[in-house]
Amino acid sequence: MKDLMAGTLRLPARVHFGYGSRAQLSEVLRLNGRRVLAVVDPFLIDTPIFAEMLAAPAADGFDVAVYSDIRPELPTESLDDAAAFAREHAPDVILAVGGGSALDAAKLVGLLVTHGGPLSRYYGENLVPGPVLPLVAVPTTAGTGSEVTPVAVVSDPERETKVGVSSPYLIPVAAIVDPELTLGAPRSVTAFAGIDALVHAVESFTAARFEGTWDGGLPVFTGRNAFTDMIALRAVERLAPALPVAVGEPGNRRAREDVAFGSLLGGICFGATGTHLSHALQYPIGAFTKTPHGLGTGLLLPYVLQACLREPEAVERIAAVGVALGSTAATDDGRAGDAITSIAALNDAIGVPPSLREIGIIREQLPQLAELASRSTRLIAIAPIPAPPETLLEILEHAYTGDLTERSEP
Ligand SMILES: NC(=O)c1ccc[n+]([C@@H]2O[C@H](COP(=O)([O-])OP(=O)(O)OC[C@H]3O[C@@H](n4cnc5c(N)ncnc54)[C@H](O)[C@@H]3O)[C@@H](O)[C@H]2O)c1
Ligand SMILES: [Fe+2]
Repeated sequence: MKDLMAGTLRLPARVHFGYGSRAQLSEVLRLNGRRVLAVVDPFLIDTPIFAEMLAAPAADGFDVAVYSDIRPELPTESLDDAAAFAREHAPDVILAVGGGSALDAAKLVGLLVTHGGPLSRYYGENLVPGPVLPLVAVPTTAGTGSEVTPVAVVSDPERETKVGVSSPYLIPVAAIVDPELTLGAPRSVTAFAGIDALVHAVESFTAARFEGTWDGGLPVFTGRNAFTDMIALRAVERLAPALPVAVGEPGNRRAREDVAFGSLLGGICFGATGTHLSHALQYPIGAFTKTPHGLGTGLLLPYVLQACLREPEAVERIAAVGVALGSTAATDDGRAGDAITSIAALNDAIGVPPSLREIGIIREQLPQLAELASRSTRLIAIAPIPAPPETLLEILEHAYTGDLTERSEP
């Protein structure tokens, strides 16, 4: 395997991880001003833990306004309402507390307040014109990594799939990841967010290598690099054994800690490298079936990796994933095969369905899904194999029937 000696990491200036780390909230807010807009997941309102979290900044003299009308899937018009509320309060800093939806909402509110709408101006990569309101992000789910990433995802009724705004300006200034906040997350949220974190780590590690030049602007997502190569497999090692435990025993503090740490590491990686084919394919599948993001990316990952086996360099990478998942096979082919089998088994253990037909896709939809996925050009570009629509269709055919037995031929 060739070593990478170049790389980019773009991260919050402060990242705190651990049980109790939420006690750092006033310290990190203080760096950014006194007027705080808290964009808060609705489930937190009236909970003792959130009251306790806000008590400290209030006692420390911060002026905090709370906004909690976060709607599922983040429809664009709901963000305009949130931005109008934010403008009235004129905050110095936004505090986001909640799942990935609340964190993404807060990123986009900061963008709209600073640079104005409509949001569609910013869909895609590097279209945010400059810095936005500083954001302190405190996740209550473990999976999206949004607390450290440069992306936010919304539903626009005028688009066929969910759309993303990606810009280094959206990276929060601070992230506080306290596993205590995830202890009450429902089983399905734990499972689907958690498997998405594993997909982030695996797609980072298997992404095409950073080949850019250093002059001029860099893309938001650069492909795998020297830093992420050191981190991604540590995320896989943490997540894979702990995720079924966190799903089965929600109060297991050690498992929650491992899943939260793996999710954070996965976010650190993919925030720099980007993700690839499982994500490109999930966007239209999620829109067609209204299934959660992580259910789709988790379901698709084994089939994506299976298709990538046609590329010898990808086999080496997938084999290394296999080792992180516990494979002791003697050859790269054996270890790569074990990686795919282990991920499928993990999906099964946490309730991710094994095939697209089980989530309501019909065969006739597959060509359209392949065509829509191929429009995610930035994700396709960093895939480890060339992925024209025919290849995407082939992956979908396997995922449709649940066929993991054959190795895809070149
Ligand atoms: N920005 C990124 O980098 C990135 C990456 C992956 C996914 N996403 C996006 O994130 C969203 C999914 O985020 P998510 O999986 O965190 O789910 P979510 O934020 O949509 O939350 C799911 C549900 O769980 C509830 N919830 C959250 N934390 C809870 C807790 N601790 N206890 C009880 N209930 C809790 C929420 O109120 C909500 O009802 C999608 O919109 C997806 O597109 C963003
Ligand atoms: Fe994801």
